[in-house]
Order: sequence, then structure tokens, then C-alpha cells
Amino acid sequence: MAVRLAPEVPLLHLDAAQFECVLVNLLENAVKYTPAATPLQIAAELQGEAVRITVDDEGPGLPPGREEAVFEKFERGSKEAAAPGVGLAICRAIVQAHGGRMHGENRIVDGRVAGARFVITLPRGEPPQDDGSQAAVLPDNAMP
Ligand SMILES: Nc1ncnc2c1ncn2[C@@H]1O[C@H](COP(=O)(O)OP(=O)(O)O)[C@@H](O)[C@H]1O
Ligand SMILES: [Mg+2]
Repeated sequence: MAVRLAPEVPLLHLDAAQFECVLVNLLENAVKYTPAATPLQIAAELQGEAVRITVDDEGPGLPPGREEAVFEKFERGSKEAAAPGVGLAICRAIVQAHGGRMHGENRIVDGRVAGARFVITLPRGEPPQDDGSQAAVLPDNAMP
């Protein structure tokens, strides 16, 4: 899996647990709906006042004409088992709760579907002061 993080991408204020859920859902889908060992790419770049995150795979792509329908609750492509899917509906709800947008599309290369792409755009907003990684670390003298 390749991760491409453009150097100018700022830190974002977001609910880390919820966003982990979004990315895990997308990665699980890629595992489920693309052949084993096909490449995945996650990328982030700054686009004006928004940060654009894309998750690309090299599978069969979204069912044609259903690029929007797959975001509805209990909506799945035609080939999948009967159990309901809510993954993408939840992903979009989380992104929207952060003031962002999310959609899916197929990447077309040389007139053929090269794979699915999920696009998340989030407002850059005011970057946080720190990345939160030290939040749980207490100084050595914190304990009595
Ligand atoms: N990476 C992908 N490639 C092709 N189709 C996908 C991909 N991700 C999602 N889909 C389609 O979107 C549908 C909805 O996905 P989701 O809401 O996560 O439900 P579930 O994973 O339970 O089927 C899937 O059933 C599948 O048809
Ligand atoms: Mg899913």
C-alpha cells in the first residue's frame, strides 16, 4: 500500500477514532472487492482551503451508474452477499459531521475502468497547535 502525503498538507482538527473508522472501512472494502495483492494508494494534498484525501484501488471499480447509490444504507453492488452494508453510509456521515464531503468514482485510464477512487474533502480550518501524539504522556514527575 502506498501513502502519498503532500508536504504542504496541514494538521487537521478531527475525531481520530471516527476517521480511523472511515479509513478502515475503505481499506476493508478494498480487501473485499478487489483481487488479492492489487495495489492501494492513499494520498492527501492541499487544494485551496480544502484537504483532499483519495483512496484508490485497482479492482473492478464501482458498479457503473451506482457510484452514488453505494453510499446509501443497506445498498450494495449486485454481486455481493445478501447481508446489508452500511460502511460507506457511515463513512460519509462522519466526513459530513466534520464539514467535509465524500464521493466515489471510477478511475478511467485509456477508456477502461482502472479501479475505484474514494474522495474525501475536508476544510483545512485552523490547524491544531500540536499533533496530539504527546497527549497521554505525563512528565516524569507527574506521579507523587
Ligand atoms: N473498493 C471497492 N470496489 C468496488 N466496489 C466497492 C468498493 N467499495 C465499495 N464497493 C461497493 O459499494 C457497496 C457498499 O459498500 P459498503 O457500504 O462498505 O457495504 P459492504 O462493504 O458491507 O458491502 C459494496 O457492497 C460494493 O458493491
Ligand atoms: Mg464495507
